[in-house]
Amino acid sequence: MERLFSFLFFLVLTVTAQNVPSNHKPTENSVGSGRILNYSPSSGQDQNTDVKIEDTYSNPSIDRRYQDTAPSNYNLDPGPVEQDKYGYEFKYHDFDQMTRFLRETTAKYPSLTALYSIGKSVQGRDLWVMVVSSSPYEHMIGKPDVKYIGNIHGNEAVSRELLLQLIYYLVTSYSTDSYAQWLLDNTRIHIMPSMNPDGFEVSKEGQCDTGPGRYNARGYDLNRNFPDYFKQNNKRMQPEAEAVKEWVSKIQFVLSGSLHGGALVASYPFDNTPNSRICKSSALCSLFQNYASSPSLTPDDDVFKHLSLIYSTNHAKMSKGVACKTSKGFLKGITNGAAWYPLTGGMQDFNYIWHGCMEVTLEVSCCKYPPAKELPRYWEDNKVALIKFLSEAHRGVHGFVMDEHGNPVEKASLKIKTRDVGFQTTKYGEFWRILLPGVYKMEVYADGFVPKEVEFMVVNEHPTLLNVTLHPSQYGAYYPKPVLLPSISIMQVQKPRPVYNVTGDFAFPQD
Ligand SMILES: *[C@@H]1O[C@H](CO)[C@@H](O)[C@H](O)[C@H]1NC(C)=O
Ligand SMILES: *[C@@H]1O[C@H](CO)[C@@H](O)[C@H](O)[C@H]1NC(C)=O
Ligand SMILES: [Zn+2]
Repeated sequence: MERLFSFLFFLVLTVTAQNVPSNHKPTENSVGSGRILNYSPSSGQDQNTDVKIEDTYSNPSIDRRYQDTAPSNYNLDPGPVEQDKYGYEFKYHDFDQMTRFLRETTAKYPSLTALYSIGKSVQGRDLWVMVVSSSPYEHMIGKPDVKYIGNIHGNEAVSRELLLQLIYYLVTSYSTDSYAQWLLDNTRIHIMPSMNPDGFEVSKEGQCDTGPGRYNARGYDLNRNFPDYFKQNNKRMQPEAEAVKEWVSKIQFVLSGSLHGGALVASYPFDNTPNSRICKSSALCSLFQNYASSPSLTPDDDVFKHLSLIYSTNHAKMSKGVACKTSKGFLKGITNGAAWYPLTGGMQDFNYIWHGCMEVTLEVSCCKYPPAKELPRYWEDNKVALIKFLSEAHRGVHGFVMDEHGNPVEKASLKIKTRDVGFQTTKYGEFWRILLPGVYKMEVYADGFVPKEVEFMVVNEHPTLLNVTLHPSQYGAYYPKPVLLPSISIMQVQKPRPVYNVTGDFAFPQD
C-alpha cells in the first residue's frame, strides 16, 4: 500500500513540477499562448498599465505577463481619478464598471493594491485579479498567498459584488482596523471578482434559480472544465479555465475560496468520486448514483471540515442549515462535495490535487442574482466569514527547505505522513500546509539529497515554523526515486488511474 501511496504523492508532484514554468525569465515567450504580453522594458512606462514593475527579477510573482493589457478599444481608461469620489456603491457592476472600480482602487491605494489580468474570456474581457496586501507587487518571502474567485458561473452574481466590496473594505479599513492591517501585512490576497465575465453580461437581475449566463460564451460550465483526478475530463478546456490553471501553477496559493450562489453551504473536496466508475455503463446505475451520493473524502478531511466550518459559523446564517428553494439545508452549513452531488472537472479538486492548495466552494446566497437593493444584507451576512476564512492560511506549519549552506531548495517534494496529497517548495524553498493542532511527521524529498523525515507539533495559537536542512546524497548512494510518468502532462495521459476507495486506500484498476 505504501508504494501506491507514494505513487499518488509523486504523481501529483511530478505534474506540479512539470507545469510550473520558471519565473526567472520574463522575456521568455515560449510560456503560454498568444494572450501573454511580450515583455519589453518600455512597457513598464505604458500609460495603459496598471501594474508598473521596476524589476521583474525582484518582483517574481506578478511578472510582466500579468500586466494590465487591456486594449485601447475597450475605452476603459478612467482618466484622472477623482479621489474624493472613490467608493463602492451597492449595485451590480457590469464589466466596464467593475474595471473602472478596480482601476480607481489601484489609483487611490497604490501601496495596498495591484491590478493584473491573467488572460481573457472567450469574448475578450480581461480576467482581472486585484492583489490586496501591504506588499502588492512582491511575494513576501515566508508569507502565504491566498485567493478568492467569484462569478465562475456568470449568473451567480452576489459572489462578484461581495468580492468587489471585500476589496473596498480591506483597503479602506487598513489604517483603522488592526485585524485588516494584520491580514494585509502578513498575507497577499488575490481577488478575482469574475471568472466568467461573458456569462455575467447576459445574465439577468432578479433571476434567482435559472436563467442565462451560467456558462461561458461557448456554453461550457467552467466548474466542469478542469483536469480531473478521478475521471478523464473530455471537455475542451476553455480560455477562462486555462488562464486559471496557468495562474495557479505560477503562484503557490495556500488557501482559496471559490464563490457561488444558489445554496448556503461550504462544500469541500473531493467533488468527484471514483465510485461511479463501477456504474459507468449502466443507465440505471447512474440514476441510482444521483440519489445515493456518497462522501468522497480527502486525506485532509479534518482540515477541510475545519475550513468549511470557519466560513459557515462566521456567516450570519449558513451554519443554521438554511434550505433554499432549490437546495436542501446542510448540517452546520457544510458538506463534502461528492456527498452533495459528484461532479467531474471541478476547480477545487484541481487546486488541491495538482497544487496542494486548499480550496473550498462557498455557496453564499440562495438567490443567484437577487435585486441590487438586497446587496447590503448579503455583504453583512458574509463579511466576517470572508475575512476569517482567509486568516486560516496562518494555521499549521510553514518554513523553508535549505541545503547545508542555507540555499533554498526549490521543488522539494513534501508530504505529511498519512496524508498522501503532496506539495512542493517554491523557488525560495518555502512551504506551507494548513494543519490542525497535533503531532505530525513530514517527509521531504529532493533530487541529489538524502530524503528526510521530520517531526513537529502544531498548536492552535500560531503557525509552526519549521526549517529543514537537507544533506547531499553521497555519490552512488541510492534512494528510491519518485515514480515519474513518461508523459509531460498527466492531463492527457490515458493511464489507469488509481482508485481512491472507501477504505481510504488506493488501488489500480487492472485494465
Ligand atoms: C528559517 O529559515 C529562514 C530562511 O532562511 C530564516 O529567515 C529564518 O530565520 C529561519 N528560522 C529559524 C527559526 O531557523
Ligand atoms: C480497496 O482497497 C483495498 C486495499 O488495497 C483493496 O483490497 C480493494 O480491492 C479496493 N477496492 C476497490 C473497489 O478497488
Ligand atoms: Zn455555481
